[in-house]
Amino acid sequence: MAYIEFKDVIKAYGSGETLIHALDRASFTVERGELAVILGASGAGKTTALNILGGMDTLTSGTVTVDGRDISSASEAELVEYRRTDVGFVFQFYNLVPNLTALENVELASQICPGALDAAETLAKVGLGARMGNFPAQLSGGEQQRVSIARAIAKNPKLLLCDEPTGALDYVTGKQILQLLQDTCRRDGITVIIITHNSALAPMADRLIRFKSGKVTEMTLNEHPTPIADIEW
Ligand SMILES: Nc1ncnc2c1ncn2[C@@H]1O[C@H](COP(=O)(O)OP(=O)(O)OP(=O)(O)O)[C@@H](O)[C@H]1O
Ligand SMILES: [Mg+2]
Repeated sequence: MAYIEFKDVIKAYGSGETLIHALDRASFTVERGELAVILGASGAGKTTALNILGGMDTLTSGTVTVDGRDISSASEAELVEYRRTDVGFVFQFYNLVPNLTALENVELASQICPGALDAAETLAKVGLGARMGNFPAQLSGGEQQRVSIARAIAKNPKLLLCDEPTGALDYVTGKQILQLLQDTCRRDGITVIIITHNSALAPMADRLIRFKSGKVTEMTLNEHPTPIADIEW
């Protein structure tokens, strides 16, 4: 059994004439420690799939297992626990608390997780050791995204889910953030899943998963992923 098994998942919204299948029997797998890239056009179902995988949304039918645990049939209380301890999230717009410092934003996550890493050490690891006392508004977009990555990895999660993590960043800053995510995967052995529109990023992945109209149309393994520094787009 694969580490992540996303199997025949349907997610339907509405009913009758307004019925929408955000996911339409989508299936993919990811192995432990891999960096997977999910590619697909707008509306293909990428965010829906990631939210279900992260226990933030429920499915209409199908099964999702992570590390042998059935997420799709878990109770709400079990999902709260799963989101808190097993999953780190990184979003396009950072989602930091504006009136807390970088350090306090990271502590917010680390304090609620058993087995969490030290918040200050984690900020140093993402290159923000000198900016811990700054508020989000005092940091650049790339720095804010580093704080949000620190917040996610301070939980010491098994799984890091990133939805368009460079969508709001310029080319160079976006590249640095992707490098950080690739390093986090390699160095800390965390399974990382990155959603992107940018097909030029495909070579960085151990596993490429392509979505189209709620379905997975391609899943390709790459034995020799390209370091981010060597990818141009
Ligand atoms: N709450 C909802 N109610 C109705 N339809 C929804 C809802 N959430 C998502 N959808 C629809 O499901 C489909 C997939 O949405 P999803 O957000 O997963 O796409 P995506 O691949 O992440 O797109 P993007 O690249 O634009 O972020 C879209 O057609 C969307 O309109
Ligand atoms: Mg999306």
